[in-house]
Amino acid sequence: MAQNVTAIVLAAGKGSRMNSEIPKQYLSLLGKPVLFYSLQAFEESNVNEIILVTGSGEQEYCKREIVDKYQLRKVRHIVEGGAERYHSVYQGLLAAKAEYVLIHDGARPLVSPAVINKAIDTVKETGACVVGMPVKDTIQMVDAEGNIKSTPERKYLWMAQTPQCFLYSLALSSYNKAIDSKDDTITDDAMVVQRYGNAQITMVEGGYENIKVTTPEDIAVAECFLKMR
Ligand code: CTP
Ligand code: MG
Repeated sequence: MAQNVTAIVLAAGKGSRMNSEIPKQYLSLLGKPVLFYSLQAFEESNVNEIILVTGSGEQEYCKREIVDKYQLRKVRHIVEGGAERYHSVYQGLLAAKAEYVLIHDGARPLVSPAVINKAIDTVKETGACVVGMPVKDTIQMVDAEGNIKSTPERKYLWMAQTPQCFLYSLALSSYNKAIDSKDDTITDDAMVVQRYGNAQITMVEGGYENIKVTTPEDIAVAECFLKMR
């Protein structure tokens, strides 16, 4: 029996670090919105359907200007997110009906269908995986005053990107607990599933181009990668 794989694409953030009037997921990259590229990668991958999570009052805009305009046929639902990223993930999970979920930042427009498909294959084997890359810089642990406290060994440090992929039942049960505990320290999904689901999570090598558009200079970097395609 075919197993349903659903992507939850998050676009309900405010983008405060971008310092832009327009939320960063709607900013233009070579004439098309950031969010379009993220959705298109999933459209062209082996996922069965997509749930788009947007900000309050942005559903109609997303449907008209992105989903309908670019004929993204796999987008099944457009739901409203919440105050923090993990609230938005939870809304996406509640709208999903799937064996496996892939949670993706709408602000990562450079993810490729090949990386998504590799992540799908891995999650079907292991039940939980995260796309990431080894860090290039040495990372220092500092205290509140900015003094260096320790240097974790670089070979054990990876940047967690997205998609982050889980058995649906594992993701939902972990998120139910995280939501109940009102845990404000959550910044990604692997954290939730490790902390509240006690699961082993595999790292899948993605690519260095899979950046999260976060600060203004990232727009130029993303356009540069798009032009290289
Ligand atoms: N996100 C979301 N709901 C939130 C917060 C974030 O769906 N309440 C989404 C963002 O739209 C983005 C992804 O989660 O696609 C990664 O978050 P981040 O890069 O932190 O985006 P923002 O929170 O929008 O940016 P900032 O933290 O600079 O305000
Ligand atoms: Mg944020």
